[in-house]
Amino acid sequence: MESLLKLSLSAHYANKPAVLREVTFEIGRGEILGLVGPSGCGKSTLSLAILRLLHLKRGAATGSIEFQGRDLMLLRESEMRALRGKEIGLVLQSPLASLNPALRIGTQLAEAWRAHVKSSREDCNEAIRQMLSTVSLPSDDEFLRRYPSQMSVGQAQRVLIGMAVLHRPALLLADEPTSALDPVTQSEILRLFANLSQRFNMSILYISHDLLSVAAISHRVAVLSAGQIVECAETAQVFRNPQHPYTRALVDSIPLQALNELAGNQHATARTAAAGSSK
Ligand SMILES: Nc1ncnc2c1ncn2[C@@H]1O[C@H](COP(=O)(O)OP(=O)(O)OP(=O)(O)O)[C@@H](O)[C@H]1O
Ligand SMILES: [Mg+2]
Repeated sequence: MESLLKLSLSAHYANKPAVLREVTFEIGRGEILGLVGPSGCGKSTLSLAILRLLHLKRGAATGSIEFQGRDLMLLRESEMRALRGKEIGLVLQSPLASLNPALRIGTQLAEAWRAHVKSSREDCNEAIRQMLSTVSLPSDDEFLRRYPSQMSVGQAQRVLIGMAVLHRPALLLADEPTSALDPVTQSEILRLFANLSQRFNMSILYISHDLLSVAAISHRVAVLSAGQIVECAETAQVFRNPQHPYTRALVDSIPLQALNELAGNQHATARTAAAGSSK
């Protein structure tokens, strides 16, 4: 698979020990890589570092981020600005907090479009409406006139996802994008990510502490623990034969039935046998 992103990053916050210590991985074009790890292990730090935004939180990163043949660490801020939201999109956890409560949805989408494209009002409207239907939202005037508070959380997350893929980025960073949603909406949004990735040949770094949701859409899973990638393998492989103690604990915390459905039985069978023999 053609490589889209290849990085090796270390990061720290002011006067604190390193949060990321030479975190290294690659993402292929069109690939969905799941990144799991316990709270506080540096997942969000990593996605901010990829966007070169860590300084906003008084952090700093060193290393390299090869993306489409360029090292992002060497780009000027103006070049990064042209790339953020256009070639790399970001979706965060709390959709309602990520939208401006004082602006209508249509206005916010138009701003996101105009940040990277100079076009007529008609072309802008057309792009927005097309994108809204891609993420299965209404695209009529009534919807565009709504304020964020007039939408459900699931709708708000679809708006944010639509906004993040408005310019069809090659890479989408999704940082815990479903943790604020109920289980049904969660699985709908997961399907949407998988669908968008296929449709636009878009790579996704899908960050979560929920291994099941990661497994549902990721081709490979990387496990971040204590600032390093301790395991990185194809999703089925991680379930069948988890290597690191944290990964094993994660897999063991998943109900057997779900595990059976997901991972072709091997690990689940081993657990059933173990449970049987301890009776
Ligand atoms: N602005 C900051 N200044 C100092 N330390 C920070 C700052 N932001 C995060 N940290 C610390 O860096 C570490 C990594 O934080 P980060 O938010 O990247 O973790 P995370 O894996 O995304 O966690 P979660 O799953 O809870 O979202 C944590 O120990 C956190 O306390
Ligand atoms: Mg986080």
